[in-house]
Amino acid sequence: MVKKIRASVPAKVILFGEHFVVYGKSALATAINRRLTVDVSSREKRGYHIKIENIPTFGLEMNLLGEEERALPYKDYGAATKAIAYVKESIRYLEERYGIGGGVEGVEIEIKSEIPLSAGLGSSAATCVATVAALKEYFGVSGDLEEIREDAHSIELAVQGVASPVDTAISTYGGYVSVEKGEVKRLLHLGELNLLVGCVGSIPLSMDAQKASEIGFKTKKIVEQVKVRKETYKEIFDSIFDISDEITTQAIRAMKDGDFVKLGELMSINHGLLDAIGVVPRRLSEFVKVSQELGALGAKVTGAGGLDAMGGIGSILVLPGESGDRIKAAMEVAGALMMDVKTGGEGLKIEIAT
Ligand code: PMV
Repeated sequence: MVKKIRASVPAKVILFGEHFVVYGKSALATAINRRLTVDVSSREKRGYHIKIENIPTFGLEMNLLGEEERALPYKDYGAATKAIAYVKESIRYLEERYGIGGGVEGVEIEIKSEIPLSAGLGSSAATCVATVAALKEYFGVSGDLEEIREDAHSIELAVQGVASPVDTAISTYGGYVSVEKGEVKRLLHLGELNLLVGCVGSIPLSMDAQKASEIGFKTKKIVEQVKVRKETYKEIFDSIFDISDEITTQAIRAMKDGDFVKLGELMSINHGLLDAIGVVPRRLSEFVKVSQELGALGAKVTGAGGLDAMGGIGSILVLPGESGDRIKAAMEVAGALMMDVKTGGEGLKIEIAT
């Protein structure tokens, strides 16, 4: 009988406080209704066989252990190395931490994702949380959600060097999460928002593997650049960081009060701070401006942002008010991948089939 475990987790958007959260300031993030699914089952041959399908950007499959380790991309897409890095580290971590896996039996891992890569939507964290949860369940290691979140966060940190706990918390718990001084807090009574996410400049299939995987790890590079600027302009950045903290506090209050006009304005102010710390490339800046001009209640960069030197790839978040259709149409004409998203979605879900 084939045992099959399915773990699915949501993508995230950071509503307020990205970058500032790396320095202990508060952030607010939410799950959105795009998911990543990991299926783990047994297979006859020894070792892990991994298959990843990231819709619509790439697919890749490879063997780990047991057989020759060989990537078999079925679309020529270098950024797949990024997704594989999180899966490999998950396997290594689980073996070291819980003594499971070890390549003795044959394990099939199949990942399907609706989360665009390098778009600030937490695809890496989603991969870590779902892979860890599915493998722990498969190998019969008990543990609560909190432990899965911590495992996934350690794996994300090991691969990328920097990572606040925001993304892994959202993928694990769903809903809304705030982070303050590194402490994760679930916010249970915030209502649903309809937002637009605009992803700008996804990685073209023709890009060479080296460049694509550099871009895959762009968050690290951008966080490093912010650090350098922060050291140069210490007092100024300290003030900017404090303002961001206040924005997040007021935003949580505005959400509780259902004051969407204020919420939108706070998003736009937050965007200004992100621009000030140097993480808003030209096209993302234009898209935010156009959304605001077309009647959005608020618009901002979300996640790490981008760098013109790295192709300006990144995402914006729009609270569209009544202007959603107009904003979406304008962005699509200008080449953005637009997604209607609902906030506050369900967290980690595990299903067992025998
Ligand atoms: O773009 P993303 O999903 O990698 O988000 C990065 C958010 C940062 O605050 C810049 C870094 C972090 O780990 O919180």
